[in-house]
Amino acid sequence: MEQAKQKIDNTMNARRDDAGYNNRIALKPGRVTEMRKVYDDILKPHYADTGRLPPYDDRRYQYARTEEDVRGMREAGLLAAQVLDYAESLCEPGVTTEFIDERVHMVIIDAGAYPSPLNYGQFPKSVCTSLNECICHGIPTPDEQLIDGDIINVDVTVYLNGYHGDTSRTIRVGKVTDEVEKLCKVTEDALEAAIKIVRPGVPIRKIGATIHEIADKHKFGVVDKFVGHGVGKEFHSGPTIRHHRNNDFGDIELGMTFTIEPMLTIGSTRDVMWKDGWTSCTADGKWTAQCEHTLLVTETGCEILTLSPAKKVLGDHFIRAKR
Ligand code: MF3
Ligand code: CO
Ligand code: CO
Repeated sequence: MEQAKQKIDNTMNARRDDAGYNNRIALKPGRVTEMRKVYDDILKPHYADTGRLPPYDDRRYQYARTEEDVRGMREAGLLAAQVLDYAESLCEPGVTTEFIDERVHMVIIDAGAYPSPLNYGQFPKSVCTSLNECICHGIPTPDEQLIDGDIINVDVTVYLNGYHGDTSRTIRVGKVTDEVEKLCKVTEDALEAAIKIVRPGVPIRKIGATIHEIADKHKFGVVDKFVGHGVGKEFHSGPTIRHHRNNDFGDIELGMTFTIEPMLTIGSTRDVMWKDGWTSCTADGKWTAQCEHTLLVTETGCEILTLSPAKKVLGDHFIRAKR
């Protein structure tokens, strides 16, 4: 068991005048510990034992049309949101990303679910933890500690009774600078604005247009390499939801279940992929924020399946799942 909080290790963390953005030492790869085990009686997704990626078919969309599908998606979404609330409560200076992974894994399996990232395309851990200049898919490690002023995106996906629920948010650790706070806030506003235009018949490309316009207004960049996606019985499938301005075909349809998960940057939107094949960091080392919800398209708009039970409903537009 990792210690919850450790003495800040100045060799791997800390701030120095000669360091990068915000005087923070740049992230570097750390040790990756063994994959965690899940209980035998937990229903696992098809890739759990092999690590083989499922065939990604952009034209195969995910829908929740039957009562059973809707209930399953609501339950998976709620669990993902609760786990993310819990993960957020752990994020304070001195905590390692390994510790977050350990605890998140524990609460997911105790709820009878499988942590979807685990062995997905051989991803080695149960949650993604993306710090500061890491755009997404950061791998938890005992060699990475949170320090005051950091931001960390924790991306939780659970597979519960055959359905995936996928959600993330960027957590401020202690006191962050005004510029970094604005980056996080604008990213949240962009996601919220995009969610508000979701309803049957609206072109999918309007999601990207909405996000990009808000980012432009504040002179932040929109990462185009990583996209939102259909989610349901599969972790990732069509439709591809791009967050930048685009000309994609296709309309939003009743019953679709997909994510929107914009990544905004202070500087460059180009990334450098680490040798681990997962960790994506900004090319210029400036920081980036992301947040994500899983949505169910309803007749009048959409239901946010991963809305935090601890937080307020985002206005009247949303029909909150009856629980
Ligand atoms: N949860 C991420 C998403 O939003 C995907 C993580 S894939 C993993 O789509 F393998 F890195 F876990
Ligand atoms: Co996602
Ligand atoms: Co996610």
